[in-house]
Amino acid sequence: MGWIPCSGMSNSKKKKKPTIMSQKPLDQIKLTSERSRMGSPLKDKESSKRGAPDSIAAQIFSFRDLATATKNFKAECLLGEGGFGRVYKGRLETINQVVAIKQLDRNGLQGNREFLVEVLMLSLLHHPNLVNLIGYCADGDQRLLVYEYMPLGSLEDHLYEISPGKKPLDWSTRMKIAAGAAKGLEYLHDKASPPVIYRDLKCSNILLGEGYHPKLSDFGLAKLGPVGDNTHVSTRVMGTYGYCAPEYAMTGQLTLKSDVYSFGVVLLEIITGRKAIDHSKATGEQNLVAWAKPLFKERSKFSTMADPMLQGQYPPRGLYQALAVAAMCVQDQPNLRPAIADVVTALGYLASQTFDPKIKHIQSSRLAPGTPPRTPMRSKSQR
Ligand SMILES: Nc1ncnc2c1ncn2[C@@H]1O[C@H](COP(=O)(O)OP(=O)(O)O)[C@@H](O)[C@H]1O
Ligand SMILES: [Mg+2]
Repeated sequence: MGWIPCSGMSNSKKKKKPTIMSQKPLDQIKLTSERSRMGSPLKDKESSKRGAPDSIAAQIFSFRDLATATKNFKAECLLGEGGFGRVYKGRLETINQVVAIKQLDRNGLQGNREFLVEVLMLSLLHHPNLVNLIGYCADGDQRLLVYEYMPLGSLEDHLYEISPGKKPLDWSTRMKIAAGAAKGLEYLHDKASPPVIYRDLKCSNILLGEGYHPKLSDFGLAKLGPVGDNTHVSTRVMGTYGYCAPEYAMTGQLTLKSDVYSFGVVLLEIITGRKAIDHSKATGEQNLVAWAKPLFKERSKFSTMADPMLQGQYPPRGLYQALAVAAMCVQDQPNLRPAIADVVTALGYLASQTFDPKIKHIQSSRLAPGTPPRTPMRSKSQR
């Protein structure tokens, strides 16, 4: 997937002591311009309400610790590679834990800004649907991030190119993953203060734990959202082609609704098993949203949109409702897209529905329109 890179901040050459510690790191890091501009540091509204301190618990690891944990970054430990570097599985003896270690590319230290944002964001934000940052290493010009290891990999690994013998995700699991990812996003939008715009929602950034519990990862592109009467923040356009909201791609104006658009694309991928952008498909089918939009208007075509890997094992009404949510999220007009809290309500309902493939479901366009989610979707005006 194509990244649109940005220039990084200059690197401080100060060498850090290779120790493991807590409670200290952020005062050593140059804060992002956004943070100082906001005047107030990023907070989790709920922990502030409880009187809990905004915890900064990331530990500092030495490069040597991380090299040992990954057998010197051996190929057999490689979990995957993304736009900013490689991710390895490792075992940290000092904390007796299996972890995922991301080594950022050092090319001109472009990733330094993303590194700082990621450490800052993940140190202050904590939620069951956000990946946990255990620590980091900033020895010399090395930049590494240490995360909890997510044993089932990314959602992308389970939707596409599934090896024979591996079971494709069933409908209920798909809905649970979608609902959990939406909850993670809701936390960023509605519980963090100021709100956080995630900016890089895509299937490879939804990591899966035991029982397919989803967590959002990769906060290097996240932005503090608008405060006061402002409706947007202006930025260079970054993100991943195929997931970017059209108004953001065209004007650089970023709002919470840009994330809702990306969420809609992910939801469509979950339902259809098609990639956001797939150059191997025929012209007209390469862009998932462009392919889906005309089909949203024809209810009789809905069953053709379901992932063939589901082999028809889905509740027709659930499919209809999930497609309705996706269709609302990918609307061109940002203020017509629902707020993520409403998406959480709708998907929470769909995820709570048990679906037993053995029970015959009526596949028909004769069905009355699906039971609406408990709370009707409302289109909040853009924040
Ligand atoms: N915490 C983690 N636990 C397990 N696997 C991970 C973890 N973080 C990343 N990965 C794997 O490494 C791959 C590369 O990650 P990343 O560098 O974030 O790039 P991208 O998100 O663009 O794929 C992911 O797609 C995922 O399969
Ligand atoms: Mg990622």
